[in-house]
Amino acid sequence: MSDEAKPRGLRRGLTNYGDFGFSGYLRRSFASSMGYSREMLERPIVGICHSESGFNNCHRAMPELVEAVKRGVLAAGALPIEFPTVSLGEVFLVPTSLKFRNLMSMDVEEMIRAQPMDAVVLVGGCDKTVPAQLMGAVSADLPAIQLVTGPMSTGRYHGERLGACTDCRRFWARYRAGEIDDVEIAEVEQRLATTAGTCAVMGTASTMASIAEALGMMPAGSAAVPAVDALRLRLAEETGRMAVGLIGSDLTPSHIITEQALENAVRVLLAIGGSTNAVIHLAAIAGRLGLQLDLKRLNVLSDTTPVLVDLKPTGAFYMEDLAAAGGIPAVMRELRHLLNLDCLTVTGETIGERIERWDPWVDRAVVRARDQPVQDEGGLVALFGNLAPNGAILKRSAADPKLFEKEGRCVVFSSLDDLANRIDDPDLDVHADDILVLKNAGPRSESCMPEAGYLPIPKKLARAGVKDMLRISDARMSGTAFGTIVLHVSPDAASGGPLSFVETGDVIALSVRDRSIELRVAPDELQRRKAGTAPAAAGPAKRGYDWLHSEFVTQAEFGCDFRFLMKDAADR
Ligand code: FES
Repeated sequence: MSDEAKPRGLRRGLTNYGDFGFSGYLRRSFASSMGYSREMLERPIVGICHSESGFNNCHRAMPELVEAVKRGVLAAGALPIEFPTVSLGEVFLVPTSLKFRNLMSMDVEEMIRAQPMDAVVLVGGCDKTVPAQLMGAVSADLPAIQLVTGPMSTGRYHGERLGACTDCRRFWARYRAGEIDDVEIAEVEQRLATTAGTCAVMGTASTMASIAEALGMMPAGSAAVPAVDALRLRLAEETGRMAVGLIGSDLTPSHIITEQALENAVRVLLAIGGSTNAVIHLAAIAGRLGLQLDLKRLNVLSDTTPVLVDLKPTGAFYMEDLAAAGGIPAVMRELRHLLNLDCLTVTGETIGERIERWDPWVDRAVVRARDQPVQDEGGLVALFGNLAPNGAILKRSAADPKLFEKEGRCVVFSSLDDLANRIDDPDLDVHADDILVLKNAGPRSESCMPEAGYLPIPKKLARAGVKDMLRISDARMSGTAFGTIVLHVSPDAASGGPLSFVETGDVIALSVRDRSIELRVAPDELQRRKAGTAPAAAGPAKRGYDWLHSEFVTQAEFGCDFRFLMKDAADR
């Protein structure tokens, strides 16, 4: 059927009652009950897929944003119809939002496919919502545009700018070290998150917004504009118009998010000193396209991509400063010699054309020139070795270079509970040059890979002035955190990976130079431990989503997606 001949709007995908004439008649009748005129119901439809929820502070301004999208859609001649999906508010979910990212992506995919719409605007913001929406949209493959709620603006405390959540951690570390008291930490708590929007630093939400823009799935310059800036509403209106322009085109997510576009996204991730979580989400998006994010290739890109953006947690500034400095287009222009400039964007223009038309003014304090970078090399490296045969990740831009070449004794925690119970025990046998290891916090553990890789410095060491230690786990880390922290060790301990055999007193050697992480234990001793250990995978999950997750979740290098959601799932 030619595209012109395909049914549009309300005529798409009629509900099956065995009589299509009746199905159309019934649908029009019920749609009319919502007050739409016949003229409106004849229009093509742009779905607005949103994730507003009382349990998601980052999406507080979403209703206003959705109204602005609707204005744009109506003005361009189509009918906007909003629909809700699962929402994932980072701090309101137990055990961790990552567990539910795939659930949200299934919701997004199936509701796009099942409901009558010709294009869709995806409105997300908080950490897992944008990856979930992109994953779902890639699989549904209807023309789609991403819009984000935008970052929070900073607050003030005693003359100092504060932004969630790097400053949350900084003050909490000072509180643990006894530098500030209960009264002061309570005051800070009220000043960290003072507006609508997502975390104000280059955490996971900001990173994923930047990546969505780098992939070409969002309007130019829209990643960093603050949630409360009127420009964000104008961008939302413009997004609605753009979505109408996509109707009937072949500019679907699978045509925009190509292997080359994914490589552009990795370059931008590295240049902005972005979150380690983005590696997982990009791997999951790639898997939906039948591609794999190659961690060895990540190292090649990391070695040739400078860090250009001076944002917290690795630098000094906040997302609102990046917006004012020129935004992601300014970063991409600085990287243009490294990018695939022919990649398409949702407007039909290429990344190269987008960069060229952007205002050339840049605030060089925030977005550096490529010959004066914040760091010469990219922010992330993948590590391999007998401890992580399938890879692990270190955010070197947030780590202490003094710990990059380190061999030391491990102090091992067998689970999150064990960590919570013992880390502050005054009798814990731990020293400043030890390595802290956490097991059973990976994707197949009961905790479903939480952001627990930022192991706290034991209180007695924190009070003695220790600020950083090498920490290793199969968990993730918040994009707002900092420290010398090796994450995503794969296979995870709960799957019986080598991490599960590490014991207190073992020696581990990290070499960032060699990209290696090795457990210095003789092979026959490892074999002996292996024979005597049963993997501590999540206990038998008997029903529902717990069962689905424990049966089908993949390891970090595949993005922790469910095997059956990846493209060509039958082959896996
Ligand atoms: Fe939503 Fe940080 S809690 S972006």
